[in-house]
Amino acid sequence: MVPRARRRRPLPAWLALCALLCQLQVTFQITPPCASERQYERFGRCCAKCEPGMYMSSKCTATSESICLPCGPDEYLDTWNEEDKCLLHKVCDTGKALVAVEPGNRTAQRRCACIAGYHWSEDCECCRRNAECAPGFGAQHPVQLNKDTMCTPCLVGYFSDTFSSTEKCKPWTNCTILGETEARHGTDKSDVVCSSPLPSTKLPNEPQIYLPSLIILLLFISVALVAVVIFGVYYRKKGKTLTANLWHWVNEACGRLGGNKEM
Ligand SMILES: *[C@@H]1O[C@H](CO)[C@@H](O)[C@H](O)[C@H]1NC(C)=O
Ligand SMILES: *[C@@H]1O[C@H](CO)[C@@H](O)[C@H](O)[C@H]1NC(C)=O
Repeated sequence: MVPRARRRRPLPAWLALCALLCQLQVTFQITPPCASERQYERFGRCCAKCEPGMYMSSKCTATSESICLPCGPDEYLDTWNEEDKCLLHKVCDTGKALVAVEPGNRTAQRRCACIAGYHWSEDCECCRRNAECAPGFGAQHPVQLNKDTMCTPCLVGYFSDTFSSTEKCKPWTNCTILGETEARHGTDKSDVVCSSPLPSTKLPNEPQIYLPSLIILLLFISVALVAVVIFGVYYRKKGKTLTANLWHWVNEACGRLGGNKEM
């Protein structure tokens, strides 16, 4: 009775509007009785839904509450629900180059992704091998899982000489640091070629390797020559007497043998 008494008094327009709005709000709250997403209406009353990870074994009645039971292994429900059963986790098929990135549990769905080097393609609804960047292009890093390769042209000072889905452009070799000079400029597809700055430093290196073998060879040849000369001289001096002595001995031996036979 008190509000009615108040209403009869002259009210400012804004207060009247506020009163109207308040009344509207009240009626709105009452008309759909289960405003909460975690409730449902049954037999003219609001009952609690089942929390994620649980399914509704039986709905509420006029006198009893909903009965919720947990999802089984390999099942899930990720919402407040009135479902009579849980959903089955999907399979991440390794034969299709899929792998589970999130194993999933009773409240969250398992998430599959393509294995490293592959990305998901909507066209075939399958994993496709990542594209290779041609020479002169490098793969953008960090390489993103489940994303196709992003190829970017090598900037000046960098090169790529291979087809690769993972390799970045590599920096040119710095000949100065190596103490050498640049023999050939680098390109986006090839490295700089360095060479030693003084060719004279390389030349004495070669005789150092060949000199010992050359000396040994010369030594061997001279020894052989000396041996031939000595043998030649010896043969000339003693050769004739040697053969004469041999001949004499052979004759003697044969004579003895012959004598023996005669006896
Ligand atoms: C289920 O997994 C989700 C995401 O993978 C995670 O946020 C949540 O904490 C997990 N819940 C339980 C109960 O392990
Ligand atoms: C090579 O390295 C030196 C010393 O770090 C640097 O001064 C020079 O600019 C570099 N040269 C090239 C071609 O990058």
